[in-house]
Amino acid sequence: MSARMAVSRNVSLQGHVAIVSGGARGIGAAVALELARQGARVAVFDALSAGQTLADAASQGAVCKGWQLDISDEQAVEGAGAEVESALGPVSIVVAAAGVMPSGAVDSGIAQWRRVLAVNLDGARHLIAACYPGMAERGDGRIVLVSSVAARQGGLLAGAEYSASKGALVSLGRHVARNGAAHGVRCNIVSPGVIETDMNAHLPKPDPQTLPARRLGTPQDVAGPVAFLCSDRANYITGVEMPVNGGQLFYP
Ligand SMILES: NC(=O)c1ccc[n+]([C@@H]2O[C@H](COP(=O)([O-])OP(=O)(O)OC[C@H]3O[C@@H](n4cnc5c(N)ncnc54)[C@H](O)[C@@H]3O)[C@@H](O)[C@H]2O)c1
Repeated sequence: MSARMAVSRNVSLQGHVAIVSGGARGIGAAVALELARQGARVAVFDALSAGQTLADAASQGAVCKGWQLDISDEQAVEGAGAEVESALGPVSIVVAAAGVMPSGAVDSGIAQWRRVLAVNLDGARHLIAACYPGMAERGDGRIVLVSSVAARQGGLLAGAEYSASKGALVSLGRHVARNGAAHGVRCNIVSPGVIETDMNAHLPKPDPQTLPARRLGTPQDVAGPVAFLCSDRANYITGVEMPVNGGQLFYP
């Protein structure tokens, strides 16, 4: 067989079961719908009702179920993970997109610090802890953590705790990638630039004309790369932090 023929052409996620946190809206919803569109059976974990995402998936004939929970609650995540396996089958894909983004400096209070770390970082950890053992046992896991440009740039719109949580996600992802590689578990990180969602709707945003792509990002701009990283096409990619920012290397 020639090298050309040996390249996998399988971009389908048929047969996979995915958990997407934060899938009730924004980037997580776009990811959930993209994975479902590619054939995965998708479980959405969100503090909000995922009714709209589930309805959108159903209109595409896709399988998508919702679990309303607080991602920072370890027991809730563990319990829901077990329910997903019973309802949909063994989980092979996890996308951690749930997040909160308050503004504020490093002295904005320890309660806010702990809450943001609990949701953005602990939440991803709880998802991985719930799903990693099964993935490693079966030799098939694809994990994507949604970090942010703020991990590297310090966060202009976002607070100190947000930037710290997003930086820690990169380190967590690299650790999981390094240790999971021998067990068939890949873990990658995507770091979006400014994407227009409810999260930042109330905040001043850069003038699109000042950005290399002359536009802000959309949730769909992030969903495509995430689906690629979850696919067989990315079989030898792990531990990568992929910027998704339209060339917006430095903002402002
Ligand atoms: N929008 C951007 O510009 C941008 C840029 C870089 C990274 N991100 C990251 O992308 C991810 C998605 O953000 P978005 O812009 O779609 O925001 P969003 O606010 O539209 O969506 C976030 C989702 O996370 C859910 N969530 C929040 N706290 C939760 C909790 N405790 N338990 C369960 N679910 C919870 C929300 O209910 C919501 O559905 C976040 O991790 C965010 O930090 C966003």
